[in-house]
Amino acid sequence: MDLELGGKVAIVTGGSKGIGRATAIRLVEEGASVMVCARGKEALDETAALARKSETGRIEAIQADLGKIEDLRRVAARCVEQFGRIDILVNNAGSARPGEFQKLTDDEWLEDWNLKFFGYVRLAREVLPQMQQQRRGVIVNVIGTGGLIPSGGYMIGGSANAALNHFTKALANEGSKHGVRVVGVNPGPILTERLRLFAERGARGRDLNEVLGKMTPLGRVGQPEEVADLIAFLASDRAAFIHGANITIDGGANPGLIG
Ligand SMILES: NC(=O)c1ccc[n+]([C@@H]2O[C@H](COP(=O)([O-])OP(=O)(O)OC[C@H]3O[C@@H](n4cnc5c(N)ncnc54)[C@H](OP(=O)(O)O)[C@@H]3O)[C@@H](O)[C@H]2O)c1
Repeated sequence: MDLELGGKVAIVTGGSKGIGRATAIRLVEEGASVMVCARGKEALDETAALARKSETGRIEAIQADLGKIEDLRRVAARCVEQFGRIDILVNNAGSARPGEFQKLTDDEWLEDWNLKFFGYVRLAREVLPQMQQQRRGVIVNVIGTGGLIPSGGYMIGGSANAALNHFTKALANEGSKHGVRVVGVNPGPILTERLRLFAERGARGRDLNEVLGKMTPLGRVGQPEEVADLIAFLASDRAAFIHGANITIDGGANPGLIG
């Protein structure tokens, strides 16, 4: 299936590693021009070099801390400066610490929400006028099944993800007026640096592959490329009728009715 992403312009936040890196590479392979951002330069350069191997689309990398408003404004401005427009925003940079409720401090809650929730809200607000002017655009929020499966040990991330599921639907309602489509993706366990660290900590001497295998009914965790394929599809006009939906990709790990 041709996703017809050739010539489209995308921003992928947290595009230097994991799901963000796989997404940036997939979009470039499909012919898009991609602006990736993250804090660390080395991984950004590595991603850009990998993407350039495809010789189809274009990629530029910019160092930015998405927890800072001025950085996030710089990313949006640079994308327009470099590529002339913004067709796709993939809000992906975010993480939240697990921990015992009574031990987590206000500062820790605020720090994690500042990136995972407000980082998404602020960048969406930043790119919306450009998309409105173009009368088209797609925003894909990479969220997480933690928002659908409440857990006492993952309250900061879980509640931020639940809020982002809501935000995605509410922003879709707003975006409809301006030709802007908004969707969310809820990944379950996906084998990135983050998940590996998390699993290693929980393994306590058990074999890591066994621990990872038990995370889903399919007996394996997902690969970043599998999420990237979903994001590329959702960002394309092939998914033009998918709007305000939060889509789960978790190998069946979420047992609930929603997602
Ligand atoms: N992997 C999973 O199992 C899983 C499950 C559910 C949801 N998710 C969600 O999927 C998204 C991607 O996760 P991942 O596992 O791919 O993460 P990852 O492999 O740890 O990569 C995170 C990316 O975000 C960047 N980043 C982190 N903090 C940043 C900041 N303050 N400003 C800008 N960039 C920042 C990192 O680069 P720097 O550190 O250099 O900035 C890196 O490029 C996250 O929103 C996560 O919550 C993942």
